[in-house]
Amino acid sequence: MPDVTLDRIAAAKTLQELEAARVALLGKSGEITAKLKSLGAMDPGARAAEAPKVHALREAVTKAIADKKAALEGAELDRKLATETLDLSLPAPEAVRGTVHPVSQVMEELAEIFADLGFTVAEGPEIEDDWHNFTALNFPQDHPARAMQDTFYLEPRPGEEQKLLRTHTSPVQVRVMNSQPPPIYSIMPGRVYRSDSDATHTPMFHQVEMLVIDRDIHLGHLKWTFETFLKAFFERDDIVLRLRPSYFPFTEPSAEIDVGYTLVNGRRVLGGSEGFMELAGSGMVHPNVLRACGLDPDEWQGFAFGCGIDRLAMLKYGMDDLRAFFDGDIRWLKHYGFRALDVPTLSGGVGA
Ligand code: PHE
Repeated sequence: MPDVTLDRIAAAKTLQELEAARVALLGKSGEITAKLKSLGAMDPGARAAEAPKVHALREAVTKAIADKKAALEGAELDRKLATETLDLSLPAPEAVRGTVHPVSQVMEELAEIFADLGFTVAEGPEIEDDWHNFTALNFPQDHPARAMQDTFYLEPRPGEEQKLLRTHTSPVQVRVMNSQPPPIYSIMPGRVYRSDSDATHTPMFHQVEMLVIDRDIHLGHLKWTFETFLKAFFERDDIVLRLRPSYFPFTEPSAEIDVGYTLVNGRRVLGGSEGFMELAGSGMVHPNVLRACGLDPDEWQGFAFGCGIDRLAMLKYGMDDLRAFFDGDIRWLKHYGFRALDVPTLSGGVGA
């Protein structure tokens, strides 16, 4: 009997079959239960001989069922692990919410385009001193740009010189020339501040400065560089430039650079020459600026230009209100922002 009983348990192939065997043996009307019941009707001598066997059988059966149950459950788990797979390579269902601001994107594009032309990227402080922002750049003491209405001045600390918020990125030219020997090929993007506010002016905006210092540099180099940059930036070959004589204290000669546009559905699109708009200030670095930076103007020449980054972004990506750039409106950022992984590359088409 014991072996036959245990074989039945061993033969169970599923948890259900095992449960059926358990009921048939140990259930209310099971075989072993019946044997236990029959002990009560035996005479004491027979009972003493039979009881240990029945109890031993019940114990053996109970243990065999528990072992078999554990084995069947283990096998079931192995089967599940082998068939139910979790693909960890799937993207997370929740999409990334933040976007890269168009100004940051354009700065990346500028770095990419100019790096390809052999330029480095330099930065300077936004809190500047008068010398870097004005004096070294050949501004006369009484130049109107130094007046309070344009420049934000900071409360001076006792015993310290009064500082200001830089009004352009040109002071970075001075810092770069003072910190490294020529030749210099650098762009300098960053925030600038002027006390001015309307639809096309905000008290803080972004500029990029471009500086080249080398031997035998002339205006032709300036024009070629700016044109090459615009062709790459706007991804078109029909860029037309017009240099208009102008004045900046730190360049001589100085020129405003106008760029041609075409009207497409009433919108000004860069390229062609239906009309012209002003895009940058530029010129040959003034000998006084070279001298202020310890360079001999007879040996070194250079050119520079300064251009609004927000303006470049508006022209390329079609926004028409500058103020929205600084509102932090999540809907605007969602619409005009860039995916964090959209890193601009020349091979991918800058700004793609
Ligand atoms: N700093 C000038 C401005 O802010 C632009 C400029 C830069 C002009 C470099 C000439 C050369 O308007």
